[in-house]
Amino acid sequence: MKIPFNKVYNTGEEEKYVLESIRSGSHCGNHSFCRKVIDIMQKKHGFGEIFLTPSGTAALEMGAVLADIGPGDEVILPSFTFSSTVNAIILFGAKPIFCEVDPSTMNIDVMKIEELITSKTKMILPIDYAGLPCDMDKIMALANKYSLIVMQDCAQSYGSYYKGKACGTQPHIAAFSFHETKNYNAGEGGALVVNVERWVERAHFLQEKGTDRRLVLSGVKSKYSWVDKGSSYLLSDVLAAMLYAQLKNEDIIKSKRGLITKAYQKLFTSFANLGKLSIFQVQEHHELNHHAFWVIFDTIDNKEEFMSKLREKEIAAYIGYLPLHSSPKGIELGYKVEDLPLTEDVANRLVRLPFYTGLADSGLDHCINSMSQVLNKIYN
Ligand SMILES: Cc1ncc(COP(=O)(O)O)c(C=O)c1O
Repeated sequence: MKIPFNKVYNTGEEEKYVLESIRSGSHCGNHSFCRKVIDIMQKKHGFGEIFLTPSGTAALEMGAVLADIGPGDEVILPSFTFSSTVNAIILFGAKPIFCEVDPSTMNIDVMKIEELITSKTKMILPIDYAGLPCDMDKIMALANKYSLIVMQDCAQSYGSYYKGKACGTQPHIAAFSFHETKNYNAGEGGALVVNVERWVERAHFLQEKGTDRRLVLSGVKSKYSWVDKGSSYLLSDVLAAMLYAQLKNEDIIKSKRGLITKAYQKLFTSFANLGKLSIFQVQEHHELNHHAFWVIFDTIDNKEEFMSKLREKEIAAYIGYLPLHSSPKGIELGYKVEDLPLTEDVANRLVRLPFYTGLADSGLDHCINSMSQVLNKIYN
């Protein structure tokens, strides 16, 4: 039985809503399905103002524009993240300051942020890797102490909770992804959440190509004009219709995915207890959206053997991110491999396991049995 790394999940309602959107005659952004999606997101998780965007990448970029990130600014972020996180700030001329991760979560190490803050620091940009929330209380406390902006990259954490608060509700701004590899899929899609009331009107202008078109739509003005910088940060209504089907079924999707986390946790905890490998440490104050599962092996050789034996069994497992500081672009910007030895070390030993909603219905037992055989071969 072939197990891919990821596979899209359809709830069965997508076609109905997409067709409805097509037939409505309005396919651009901020139409009826966009409003339905925003409503469902707000009611379910209590976010501030929500802007549906064409991707998580676009949401991060819109957030950077909203925060007025520019030349001379420094932004602190983990090196263990996706290119979109860092591109969102270098596109506007800011300098990334990479911080080490905490290997028990693979999120930014909050104990190492303060030493990186300078008079040029403008933003902290943490991510919730694999949907596990980063330590937002500590990050927000630092941001308040030094008057910094926090943009949380929640691309992977829609539906995760930290101390009873949905990821994305605590920072000034947060970016979500609804790419097909995420728990809730619009094909391509994203959202920017703006939790600062006084930034909301401007965010509407930025999303609409720097115009005040929103004031025309709401009847305040008769003609719209160019009022700010901006771009086209809008999700098409047709894709919002697809996303609506997914978000309406959020709890079903989440509980199916929860079965996968539970099964992986059971298998890998026994090896972790023997000191052979480590898995993420979920605390009582974390509620997972069950986006992904990773394992850090004791040696690179054991990681390679695990992956190659799984490949022989047609089960796809992948490495995580290649750290940004030691990637070709990071080196070009002047960073050195040895700048972040801990990130470099753990990233080299990390494997992400196949994880998609349908795996809970078919293939999970096969995956667990095959992985168990491989682990026993490696470690016994
Ligand atoms: C941490 C992180 N940030 C940003 C993104 C970009 O999201 P999108 O693919 O929707 O542009 C991703 C997508 O994989 C991601 O994992």
